[in-house]
Amino acid sequence: MQEKLQQLKTEALTALNSIKDKLQLEELETKLLGRKGGQLTEMLKGLKDLSEDAKRQVGQLANEVKKSVEEAIANKKKEFVQQEMSGLLEKEYIDITQPALPAKNLGHLHPNTIIQNDLEDLFTSMGFAVIDGPELESDYYNFTALNIPENHPARDMQDTFYIKGHSDWLMRTQTSPVQVRAMQKHGVPLRVIVPGKCYRNEATDPRHEHTFYQLEGLVVDKDINFSHLKGVLEAVAKHLYGPKTQIRLLPKFYPFVEPGVRGEVTCFLCEGKGCRVCKQTGWLEIFGAGMVHPSVLKEGGVDPNVYQGFAFGFGLTRLVMLKYGIEDIRLLESGNMKFLEQF
Ligand code: FA5
Repeated sequence: MQEKLQQLKTEALTALNSIKDKLQLEELETKLLGRKGGQLTEMLKGLKDLSEDAKRQVGQLANEVKKSVEEAIANKKKEFVQQEMSGLLEKEYIDITQPALPAKNLGHLHPNTIIQNDLEDLFTSMGFAVIDGPELESDYYNFTALNIPENHPARDMQDTFYIKGHSDWLMRTQTSPVQVRAMQKHGVPLRVIVPGKCYRNEATDPRHEHTFYQLEGLVVDKDINFSHLKGVLEAVAKHLYGPKTQIRLLPKFYPFVEPGVRGEVTCFLCEGKGCRVCKQTGWLEIFGAGMVHPSVLKEGGVDPNVYQGFAFGFGLTRLVMLKYGIEDIRLLESGNMKFLEQF
């Protein structure tokens, strides 16, 4: 038995030396130490048949053999783990000194965003806050609160997209609904702009899109008058189109202002002389504006006997068209890369 044990030890250690991978190691481990049929395990089980004396002598040797075989197997396992780790490290090695690959197809801001950012900077420099409102709007805020009750003909000018099964909800046709929202939420005095997307059910043409941007402005305070409105609008026009730019205000009816105007700027192309872009008039319409109607102030929770306000709504997309000389508004939302890469 002692000889057999020594022989098994020698064979096991020799076999371990020639083992190449984890799988072979597992096989050998089972062959020697497997709970059922392992060579060493079986020999150890045979100890119980020996006499007490023999058991003591052989038992000690058997334990030594078992211990050294187990240690040798454990060492071999460690060796394989280390090999695996260093292989992984090699694979994951990153050369941080390698120069970066040249960047391809880098994106850039959309022209709408460029002009919006520019105007946000201008207005914040004049003390305005930039606020937001929902694009999916209630009939109340989009029309009723703005002095446009149901069946009012002014609704026909702004047909839009309604939500199936929810006739009280619609895609906002203008940024003006944020006027009443802002007064209700922030109170007065108030000086805000609201840039954002609007929707109209348009038969589209080079100047009309179903989805376009507006930039609303609202100032409510004591002693606000029409010249304040004109001053702000002029500042925007000159900022965007140069110091020679002039604006003119012509009467226009909007139910939520009184008086109301439409605003035009001297044509960017002909500087007022008349050309194909301005249809020979020398002027281009870019906004609607006016003094906030008392019933809108009331709707916003503001006393019209104490406060006055002015509001304006730029067609932001039109401002972009004028700034860059874009003749068809539909290019802006077309996703046409040849067009967009020019900005
Ligand atoms: C309005 O939408 C008013 N909310 C503006 C306003 C605000 C008046 C505050 C008074 C006080 P209007 O429908 O005219 O008004 O549109 C304003 C601007 O949005 C237009 O001058 C035009 O530049 C732009 N606009 C209107 N419809 C379209 C469209 N389908 N596509 C592109 N731009 C449009």
